[in-house]
Formats: sequence, structure tokens, C-alpha cells
Amino acid sequence: MHILVINGSPKGERSNTYQLTSAFVKGVRQAAGEVQVRERAVCRMDIKPCLGCFSCWNRTPGKCCIEDDMGQVIQDLLWADITVWSFPLYYFTVPGALKNLIDRQLPMLLPFMEEREGQTGNGGHPARYDMSGKRAVVISTCGFYTAEGNYDGVYSLFDHLCGRGNYTTIFCGQGELFRVPEMSGRTGEYLSCVEQAGREYIDGGISAQSRERLAQLILPKEIFEACADASWGIERENAGSGKDGVDDKKESETLAFTRQMAALYRKGSWPGKDIVLEMCYTDVEECYQILLGKDGSHVCTDGTLTADTRIETPVTVWRSIAAGEIRGDEAMMQGLYHVRGDFNLMLKWDEYFGDSRPQTKQTGEIPAQKNTDMNIMLIPWIVFWVATSISRQPGCLLSVAACALVPLVYYRHRKTWYDVLSGALVTGFSVAILAGVSEKQMLPVSYLAFGVMWLASCPGKRVPLTAHYSKNSYGGEDALQNPLFIKTNRILTMLWGILYLATAVFSLFLMRSPVSSLSGLINSVLPALMGIFTVWFQRWYPARVARGK
Ligand SMILES: Cc1cc2nc3c(=O)[nH]c(=O)nc-3n(C[C@H](O)[C@H](O)[C@H](O)COP(=O)(O)O)c2cc1C
Repeated sequence: MHILVINGSPKGERSNTYQLTSAFVKGVRQAAGEVQVRERAVCRMDIKPCLGCFSCWNRTPGKCCIEDDMGQVIQDLLWADITVWSFPLYYFTVPGALKNLIDRQLPMLLPFMEEREGQTGNGGHPARYDMSGKRAVVISTCGFYTAEGNYDGVYSLFDHLCGRGNYTTIFCGQGELFRVPEMSGRTGEYLSCVEQAGREYIDGGISAQSRERLAQLILPKEIFEACADASWGIERENAGSGKDGVDDKKESETLAFTRQMAALYRKGSWPGKDIVLEMCYTDVEECYQILLGKDGSHVCTDGTLTADTRIETPVTVWRSIAAGEIRGDEAMMQGLYHVRGDFNLMLKWDEYFGDSRPQTKQTGEIPAQKNTDMNIMLIPWIVFWVATSISRQPGCLLSVAACALVPLVYYRHRKTWYDVLSGALVTGFSVAILAGVSEKQMLPVSYLAFGVMWLASCPGKRVPLTAHYSKNSYGGEDALQNPLFIKTNRILTMLWGILYLATAVFSLFLMRSPVSSLSGLINSVLPALMGIFTVWFQRWYPARVARGK
């Protein structure tokens, strides 16, 4: 199979559109196997405008009088089974240089008039060469937030060129995002859809599902437009006021970057009170405040607001984090930046600035991840400890019943290894007591087993037990990559483990002493106090690390 890519962007390989085209061709290669690809960048070729002399029809039929690279392009067009037209949208049509190339295809036509029933316009010319079986793909990006409604001119042109319905299109708005490293996560996803479309194109056509995904906006309209406006570093009020625009006051790059960051704020995450985030760029000694309010964000340059959270960072570090080159949490652990004031904003960063994907269309393709639930792990133990201390036999039977019933909630929750182990251990202890082992021996052993289970999850690179459950509130699986999250959970898991080892020891003695009735009380009060400590520690410790302590 022969594929010809005509890259009509003046930027050549640096073109946004070319990224989509490359992804598409990659998909085609995967599906088609043996493929030969020729790429022609219009910006590097010498293709002069048509002179309109018709010599290619009368004096030298099939041959243009201009000697330039267009002769090669015509050879390529005849060679190709699939031609991919790749270009940016310029003034709602193709860029001028590409239009020259399109005009210069006249030698490929015969001069005779032809009726084209059911086709666009009135009239056409027959092809000079056999073009049957050749296919065309038109890929383009544009600068506005959507491609919808902006490609009428392009459709009209290619309807004439290829015949209506005889070509496949991928038109994408927000094209400039493809060159923004900070957006690579979002644009990368889009590019994998294009690659998928390339595979499907070879296997019978782009599916409706892929079409739907390709039509989705990369960023919501208002966020994209705010980001795009901010990227120029020019204040709208000052723009265009000077003679020839030369007086347009350029903002500092850091301020433009901060404005773009502010534009990503999702006002839906407003917590009921305004938050002031202060960004202090230590290397360039610039400081800006972002007010995160109910109706959106606002960047304040005069420092008059009172900051709730202050981030002190070199701009280079923050840019690398934004571009996904380094993880924010890792950078914080390494002390590359510091956070002062309320740390809550950092914990909920993704809610405020994260995945601001438009909620317009649901592909329904990605099933929602089920959450884990620590209660599933705890309930068998609590039932066992409470019920057996009240009444031996019924308590054990109740514990076994609880263990048997817990799996019923798995249809709504994701089970962890610890849920399964807890059910098995509690069943074992209950059966042992029913078989005649004293509960005065079994209860301390159960505390010991519980503590060991927690401690065993702490060493090395293991994910500490609490992290399996608390990750639900910190971005799910992604939280497990966060070293600070893991460290906080490791400390907590160890403390809980130690608490239950200690509980095992003092229960053993307490239960044989005259004040054995106190053991139940102590064993309830201590975990409750530990629970309060856990809630406090989960906030305090990351904030302490963020302050650089
Ligand atoms: C001269 C010029 C005209 C443009 N006209 C439009 C336009 O009419 N509509 C639009 O949405 N974007 C327009 N754009 C934006 C480009 O289509 C957009 O930046 C595109 O992603 C560039 O793609 P490329 O990197 O492949 O060249 C224009 C850009 C330039 C430089």
C-alpha cells in the first residue's frame, strides 16, 4: 500500500496538524502491515502559483509549463493509493501555498466539460489518468475551540476535488494545544484516538465511537478560550491601542503562565468560600495571586489579597510539573518547592485544576472504577471483638455470619487482599473458640494477628494498608504513585499496627486480672483516640513536609 502525506502547514514537521497526521499514519501502518509512505512538505517545495495559461491542456497536454516541484507531486499523487491532506485552517480554508498546489493539479484533468450528477456545483472535468480506487483523507486543526461550523470552505473544496462522500475527514479545534507541553496529557489522549481511527480506517472505516471521541473538545470552551487569551501575554484592554499595534504591552512570561494556570481553574470545585493562591516564583522574583471564586478565577498582580496558600517555587520547576516532566508530589518531597499556609488546596489540587474535561458527551466506554471500603475489612473484626466479649457462642456465630455476608457488598466495592484475609482470619478465630479454645487466649491472638497484618504491609516498596483505602479520597490509583501520600500512610499504618500489638499484650494480662471488664473499654477508647489522631496527622504531616521541614 502506498501512502502520500501532503503536509500543507508552513511549519513543516513542527505543525500541530502533522502530529495528528503522524498518529493516523501510525495507526494505518499497524493495521495494514506493508506500507510505503512518502511525505511532501509544501513549505520545503518550490511550487509556484498557476499562471492560468491552459498550456497543460492545449500546447503540452498533461504537462505544466512551469518547471518546479509540482511535476514530482503529480507523480506522487498517481503513485499513492491513499493521499493524506494535512493542513491548518487559514481564514476558513486551506493555506495559500497548499491552494497553489491544488490549483496546479490542472494537468491531471482533461479539458472537456462534464456533468457531475449529484455532486457539488455545476460542471467538472474528467480525470486524465485512472484514479479509480484511490482514497483521500483530510486532516486539519484550527485555532478556535471547535472545528464545528468552521470547515464549510474546506468541505466545499474537497467535495469538488474528491467528490462528495469520497474522502474521510478528521477536523480538530484547539489545534494550538498540541504544541503546549503542559497539555500533553490531554492532547496525547486525542492523538491515541486518531491512531485508533487510522487502524479502523484500514479495517473498514472510522467507527462511530471513534468519531464521537474525536468530536469531543480537548478543553471546555471557556477554559480553552481563557487559556488561549492568556497565552499571548497581552492585556485585552491595552491591545490594539497603539499605532500598528506596536504599543501592545507585553506581560512577563511568568504572568502569562500564571494566567494560563488560573484559566484551568474549575469553578464547580468552589468550596463555598473564595481561596487565594499565591504563586511566588523565587528564581525570577515575581509573585502573583490567583483568586479562586464562585464565578471563576482572577489573577491579581498587586499583591493586595491575603493568601490562603502560598507556593514558593522556581518558575522552571513549576513549568516542569505543569508539563508532566516531573511529578508535583515528588518535587515537593525533594524540596524543590515549598508550600505555606492552608495545605488543603494542595491535597485537592486535581479537583481545582485537574481533569477539566467537558462533560458534554459520555462515550460510556470506560467503566467507573469501584472504590475500596475500609469498613469491609474492619466489620468482621469489630463484630468478633464486641460480640464474643458479650457472649461467647452466639458472638462467634455472629462473627462467622458477618464474614459470610461481607462478600455481598463486593458488587459495589472493590475488594482488597486485606478484606479477604480479615474474613478468613476472623472465621478461623471464631471456629477455634466454638471448638473449645478459650476466648481469653483467642482475643489477644486476634489483636496480634490484626496488628501483624498492618505492620506486614509497611516494609520496602509495599503499599501500606491504609493507602489501599484512603486513596479513594486522593485521586484513586494515581495517589499510590505519590511518595508523600505513601509515606504518610506508612507512618499511620505502622502506628496502628503497633497499637494492636500493644493491645494484644495488655489484653492478655488484663483479661486474666480482676479488672478484665475494663479491657473492652480500653480497647474501644484507644482506637477512637487513634482515629482522631489519624484525621489530624493526614493533614498535618504533608503540610509539614510541604513547608520544607
Ligand atoms: C494566517 C492564519 C489564519 C488562521 N485562520 C484560522 C481560521 O480561520 N480559523 C481557525 O479556527 N483558526 C485559524 N488559524 C489558526 C490555525 O488554524 C491553528 O493555529 C492551527 O492549529 C495551526 O496548525 P499547524 O501547526 O498545523 O500549522 C489561523 C492561523 C493563521 C496563522
